[in-house]
Amino acid sequence: MTSNQEQLPRKHRGAIRRGRGKLDLDPRELAEIWLKQEQQGKGLIGGDPNRRPRWKHPQPPEPAPWYRHGLASPEHQQRLHEFLTSAPLEIEIGAGDGRFIIAWAEQHPDRHFWAFEVRWKYARRMYERAQKRGLTNLWVSDNDARVVIPEVVPDESVEVFHILMPDPWWKPKHQARRIIAPWFVKILARKLKPGGILRVETDVEGYPEFVRTIVEAEPLFAPHNPALEARFANAPLTTRQIWCKEHGVPVYRLFFQRQ
Ligand SMILES: C[S@@+](CC[C@H](N)C(=O)[O-])C[C@H]1O[C@@H](n2cnc3c(N)ncnc32)[C@H](O)[C@@H]1O
Repeated sequence: MTSNQEQLPRKHRGAIRRGRGKLDLDPRELAEIWLKQEQQGKGLIGGDPNRRPRWKHPQPPEPAPWYRHGLASPEHQQRLHEFLTSAPLEIEIGAGDGRFIIAWAEQHPDRHFWAFEVRWKYARRMYERAQKRGLTNLWVSDNDARVVIPEVVPDESVEVFHILMPDPWWKPKHQARRIIAPWFVKILARKLKPGGILRVETDVEGYPEFVRTIVEAEPLFAPHNPALEARFANAPLTTRQIWCKEHGVPVYRLFFQRQ
């Protein structure tokens, strides 16, 4: 446990950890991993739902605004499609307990939001909080976003993708789980409307450079534009960002616009 951890209330200790602080990247190893991610689905968290649908954890019955790939009825898929296409759409990948997206959805009742959180306990908590607050403009999924977004989200339909404080996945054997990879960035670009924004925030040293290298190599994205931050001036913080603020840990913010 770090000294920062010791300052946290007991119930939060262990919930937020700082990793090694510096990202080690081997370009050759990464290239191999990306190929396996794209072609074989390597590193999908919870497995590929197309081959092995999740069944262990209960899910709210339809028509609840909850989506699990491969298990939704055709009516539910249609319901989701209507939700995704009937208002300006924003998607968060790796929403954790939903602290940001719930408050953001409350601030923007005229927009629709979809939050992905692969850890079922957190996804369920987020869903229950949203229901308690009577939010009707937020859907939740506990699938790996890398499977569902390419298959379910229509092209050129998303205004903003939020990827806030993604796991760095330090260990070499876990690198395939990193969300930022060229093949997936290409898909995000395709799903964004022209002018749409990919917003990435991180407290991991070395990660902003890693993200910029990958996203800026995708021809559909313009280079990082700090001026776009103004659009998110009132954005609520995530749980991890609150922790960073309280502990003086800097958060790097990146904004890429689809050309
Ligand atoms: C470090 S946490 C940050 C959570 C939250 N955004 C915050 O700042 O407090 C990253 C979260 O992303 C989730 N995650 C990682 N890869 C994912 C994926 N491919 N699809 C959906 N969720 C993912 C993890 O389960 C984890 O809860």
